[in-house]
Amino acid sequence: MRTSQPQTIYLKDYKVPAFVVDHVDLRFELFEDGARVHSLLSVRRNPESDGTEQNLELDGDSLTLESVQLDGRVLSEGDYDNRGEKLVVSSVPDQFELSVVTWIEPQNNTRLEGLYKSSGMFCTQCEAEGFRCITYFPDRPDVMARFRTRIEADKSSYPILLSNGNDVEKGDLDNGRHYVTWEDPFPKPSYLFALVAGDLVEKTDNFRTMSGRDIDLRMYVEPRNSEKCDHAMDSLKRSMRWDEEVYGREYDLDIFMIVAVDDFNMGAMENKGLNIFNSSCVLASQETATDVAFQRIESIVAHEYFHNWSGNRVTCRDWFQLSLKEGFTVFRDSQFSSDMGSPTVKRIEDAAMLRTAQFAEDSGPMAHPVRPQSYMEISNFYTLTIYEKGCEVVGMIHTLLGEEMFRKGSDLYFERHDGQAVTTDDFVRAMEDASGRDLSQFRLWYEQAGTPELSVQDEFDENNGVYRLTIEQSIPDTPGQTDKKPQHIPFAIGLLGADGKALPLNLSRDEQNAPTERILELTDSAHTFEFHGLEHRPVPSLLRHFSAPVRVQYDWTREQLTFLMSHDGDGFNRWDAGQKLAIDVINSLIENPELAVDGGLVEAYRGLLSDESLDQALVAKMLQLPTEAYLIELSAQPAVQAIHSAREKVLGKLAVDLRDELLACYHRNTVSGEYRVTPEDVARRSLRNTALAWLLHIGDEEARSFALTQYSGADNMTDRMGALRALVGSDFENDRESTLADFYQRFQKDPQVVEQWFSVQAASSRTGSLAQIRQLMEHPAFDWKNPNKIRSVIGAFAGQNLPAFHAEDGSGYQFLAEQICRLDDSNPQIAARLVSPLTRWRKFATVHGQKMKSALETVRDKQGLSRDVYEVVHKSLAG
Ligand code: TRP
Ligand code: ZN
Repeated sequence: MRTSQPQTIYLKDYKVPAFVVDHVDLRFELFEDGARVHSLLSVRRNPESDGTEQNLELDGDSLTLESVQLDGRVLSEGDYDNRGEKLVVSSVPDQFELSVVTWIEPQNNTRLEGLYKSSGMFCTQCEAEGFRCITYFPDRPDVMARFRTRIEADKSSYPILLSNGNDVEKGDLDNGRHYVTWEDPFPKPSYLFALVAGDLVEKTDNFRTMSGRDIDLRMYVEPRNSEKCDHAMDSLKRSMRWDEEVYGREYDLDIFMIVAVDDFNMGAMENKGLNIFNSSCVLASQETATDVAFQRIESIVAHEYFHNWSGNRVTCRDWFQLSLKEGFTVFRDSQFSSDMGSPTVKRIEDAAMLRTAQFAEDSGPMAHPVRPQSYMEISNFYTLTIYEKGCEVVGMIHTLLGEEMFRKGSDLYFERHDGQAVTTDDFVRAMEDASGRDLSQFRLWYEQAGTPELSVQDEFDENNGVYRLTIEQSIPDTPGQTDKKPQHIPFAIGLLGADGKALPLNLSRDEQNAPTERILELTDSAHTFEFHGLEHRPVPSLLRHFSAPVRVQYDWTREQLTFLMSHDGDGFNRWDAGQKLAIDVINSLIENPELAVDGGLVEAYRGLLSDESLDQALVAKMLQLPTEAYLIELSAQPAVQAIHSAREKVLGKLAVDLRDELLACYHRNTVSGEYRVTPEDVARRSLRNTALAWLLHIGDEEARSFALTQYSGADNMTDRMGALRALVGSDFENDRESTLADFYQRFQKDPQVVEQWFSVQAASSRTGSLAQIRQLMEHPAFDWKNPNKIRSVIGAFAGQNLPAFHAEDGSGYQFLAEQICRLDDSNPQIAARLVSPLTRWRKFATVHGQKMKSALETVRDKQGLSRDVYEVVHKSLAG
């Protein structure tokens, strides 16, 4: 537990380590009442440091120290100091071996950092600073060592013993125990260390690399999950091939292992040669996982695999550089997903998430640059800004350089920095050096927080046939940053003629055969572009494919939006025009609830539903109304109940007026044959389930019987869940209750499905009242020690069931504060993540805001607050 006020760590204080570790020899003795860890470190003074440091300082957290030896000599208590979170050994020589024995209690580790137990197995999570909960070590990513790890445990309870690299020795010991020794030939930072011990089944496969090496692929899961591995294994092989083809990167060890564990703070972890996954992000079968889960698993497996190069071979110098590996790796996994499925749909999903959640983060009290300048607790900085905005920043470099130069840049980066711990600046420099482009202004994307706002004005000069576009940029203040400089923004545009055709973008009078899409590069606070040779005023298509993570302000008319919805050559902007039109209609109902829903919107949706020549994957996305969360994000003073009612009213109107089209859509999109996760089939199931949900929303009796039949007859979880979700969103209370009960009966033995069952209820305003949420938390399947259960009930309530969370009386806020306080002692990382919905208190109307603030104060006043929660709560209340 924390004893003093948390300290702030600054990037500007970075110093190279005084000592480096060349080799680590670990021996784990695993028992039921704890584990003894023997570590032998080969330590050497860092030639790059100034050499003045007399003492060796190692990090340690929650460790019981048993003994310390230096070059074989037992040290007495006067030779070292292990008070606080350090082991300081005084007056050490320039080179020596340090041997340390510690005792830890994995069975009592509820923080899920370091070595802990999950459903009877031992496993680790060391990123970012978990290794120090295992043994004393310079636990920072710029200390890279070779690891040799011997694991000893009871053979019958823990037949499988895993660590990084290759297994080099194994054998039996006394008392029914056995051991396996692993050796990882690649030097790595401690955060990539992993260990697993358990009674697991092994699923094997293999992969031949482009240079002809054969790699053993192994998945380890609990026996009950042995039929849920195929999809992850196939995804892994596709990722390995893709990284060879697109980046020229080949796997480097002889074995690649994936382990699934039920209790895990995040999605997955890229430990060298031994990736550990949250079960919900790796296990799938058609009966238990939805299409969305299949796609998420494919992208997370790819993400962790891609880290082998972008993260492991080339790692981060310090945690301020986190986006170096995360932003780049998210970019790589989204390119991969785009290549495996529908690029337009992938772009829509990424942009929607960014605009909803990252924009919110970027305008709140936790806003920080892609490369932060300070932090208290690094776990709080695994954020949407580091991951998703970081990905966008890499994506903009890709756009500015083009495919070929970007590849040259990434080749140079990997070649130059293989085996090193580097900075985001090193990444940008490699891109510059390979391409010859100057990215000095572009670097501001890493330094300045906040979402740039572009305001666009246009005029048409009829006499000269010139269309003039003026674009101004500004970046709002964020905590600790004001008066920002303009950034380098790639702004993709097109212009459409009255017939819907793409017009050539002639930037001067003499230009001919100009392209119909251009990337305008914005570098100043204002630019004017002229497009020549136009007969009529064109309709602009702005920020195509969401070419930069910015907000665009332009006075769209509903006519323009409707036009773009059906004519824009850029699929992303077609979708976006539809969203904008729906938002405009919803907003007008918020202002005036008496208003009728604009018939133009209904007709536009009718067009989408009836035109089978359209890309059905795009149509499936276009039919989704903007979420409440996004509508809230867009509003300066959000009135949550009014937003909810207005959106429901639009949904109701669409469903009533388009009933025939929806029924036709439902029948037309029945998928026959084998279950496949292709863009076409995913789109069909999505369309069908959307149609069903809309019709149940208006209480349609015919649709109700379809839902019940679909629910019981479904051969896959997408359709079963689609029917359940539609019933949960309806007023057919009896069907809703009986179907929920049946669903639980069917799947109660499967934690991943029970999590879906929890979240479908917690996220809905019909089944997720506060009283119902408290009941779910009393349910036998709910488990305070399991982060997935917390997320699927408490997280879904606060993040998706917005009318209930924002109840006028503040009960939702106090409820959340209560749960945060309870979790703070057992799992501070998860507790701190749950604070996020409350951090936005300033955005909400005065009444709401005060109640949110007082919930934050409840948390602030808890005794012995963790550093994780302390940082988020104090930053939210500051200023
Ligand atoms: N590096 C991991 C990833 O991006 C993130 C991660 C997994 C993590 N587990 C964590 C970060 C625990 C902090 C704490 O895939
Ligand atoms: Zn990652």
